[in-house]
This record gives sequence, structure tokens and C-alpha cells, in this order.
Amino acid sequence: MICSRCRNPLQKYSVIRYLHHSIDVSTITCPACDVCIGINLKGKWKNVDQVLGSGGERNGWIEVSSVEDKAVHFVLSKVLYEQYEPPDSHNFESPYDLPESSDVVKILWCKGIAVGFYTLKLKGTWNEEMGSKYEMNTLDTAYIRNSHRRKGYGTSILYDLVNTYPGENVGLSKPISNSMRMVLSKFLSQHTQYRLNFWEIEGSGSEGFRTLVWYSMKSKRR
Ligand SMILES: CC(C)(COP(=O)(O)OP(=O)(O)OC[C@H]1O[C@@H](n2cnc3c(N)ncnc32)[C@H](O)[C@@H]1OP(=O)(O)O)[C@@H](O)C(=O)NCCC(=O)NCCS
Ligand SMILES: [Zn+2]
Repeated sequence: MICSRCRNPLQKYSVIRYLHHSIDVSTITCPACDVCIGINLKGKWKNVDQVLGSGGERNGWIEVSSVEDKAVHFVLSKVLYEQYEPPDSHNFESPYDLPESSDVVKILWCKGIAVGFYTLKLKGTWNEEMGSKYEMNTLDTAYIRNSHRRKGYGTSILYDLVNTYPGENVGLSKPISNSMRMVLSKFLSQHTQYRLNFWEIEGSGSEGFRTLVWYSMKSKRR
């Protein structure tokens, strides 16, 4: 096997197996690059680009259900976001856990290539850690590949949420990253009708543990 990044033959490499709900993949890490360069799914090795898609007709936000799409989400979250384009803690970005089976997971496809994802905790979902239920649909994770940023795709997450759950509140767990805060700022400035729907929440977002995003933006500007 040859590493698709440094083009060196892989004589020694490390394999890690991830088993989480219905996802069962092994990653292969190139020792020279020190990042995952491929995964094994159902007995077949594929490099990262092969997993993310090679073109076609798939476009827009599509909910994940197949094992293949779960592997695509895995690669976007655990390889691209965590290893190739690591989160910047100074901007309140953090790595993500793999989703629970009750989470909604959506992938953004552009001409058959996966370029981002978001996951949602649905209102009423029990959170073991907090010992309570989510008070509102809560955007738990979101990521758009560096190559596709500042083209409106982050904003399209917000459109997808308000269109899928019309009139409902949306929570975002504290701290909201700086870039997502800027996305929200532009979105709420332009769409006054959603200003009372987006909340920055702690825990499950119960009374006293949520702040209106628009309100906190306005008070910071003062
Ligand atoms: C947050 C994120 C999803 C935004 O994706 P995106 O596709 O670049 O967002 P958009 O193109 O829709 O941005 C909309 C507007 O928000 C503002 N904005 C977004 N990112 C910005 C940045 N880094 N700096 C300044 N303004 C920014 C701009 O006003 C932009 O409009 P413009 O490009 O016309 O100026 C992306 O930056 C990302 O994946 N970040 C890493 C993970 C993360 O922070 N996730 C959110 C956790 S809460
Ligand atoms: Zn390599």
C-alpha cells in the first residue's frame, strides 16, 4: 500500500479500530505523515478521497442512514476535522465525539463529494451525562471543509434547520465557535424573523441555562 499524501510505500503503519453503535471502521495511519490516510470498511481499504466520493449527482444536505455514509461522516469528523484541519481552541473550536444513535446526522454533498456535516440532538432526547432531556433541538456539531468555507454553506445549516423544524427553537451548546458566531450574526441580521429562535445553551438548555444568541450579540456590541 502507498500513502496517498507522501507517496511512500507503507512498510510499517498503525491500525486503530473504531467500534461505536453501528460504525465499525479501522483507520490506517502513515508514520511519515502522522495522520490517518485511509480506512477499512467491510474488509476493503479506501483512501480518504475515495471515501469522500468521486463525483456524481448528490447535492445538498442529506441525512445519514447507510453504513457507507456513516463512514463518510467518520472521515469528515475524525480525519479531516480532527487531523487535517485541526480545531483551533483559541476560536472555541473543539473536536467532536462520534454521534449517538439518536442524533440526526447530515452530510453536505457537492457534486457527489462530501464537504461538511452537522449533527443534531433532538428535543426530548435523554442526556445521560446531564440527567435531563434536551429542551430544544440542539446543533451539536458542525463542520465545513476549509476548501469550501465562505461560500454560504455554514449558513445553509441554519436554513436547513429553520426549514426542517419551522417555528421551533434551535440550541447551540456553549461556547459557540467564533466562526459560527459570525455566521449567526450575519444570518440573524438579515432574517429578523429568526432572532427569537436561536439560543446559546448550557447542559440541556432549560430555563436559566439559555441565552438568546441575538440578545447576547446586541449586548456585546453596546
Ligand atoms: C463555522 C463554519 C461551519 C462556517 O462555515 P462557512 O461555510 O465558512 O460559513 P458561511 O460561508 O456561511 O459564512 C457566512 C458569513 O459568516 C461570516 N463568517 C463565517 N466565517 C467567518 C470567519 N472565519 N471570519 C469572518 N467572518 C466569517 C461572514 O460574514 C460570512 O459571509 P461572507 O463570506 O459573505 O463574508 C466553518 O467555519 C467551520 O467548519 N468551522 C470549524 C468548526 C466550527 O467552528 N464549527 C461550529 C461549532 S459551534
Ligand atoms: Zn504519508
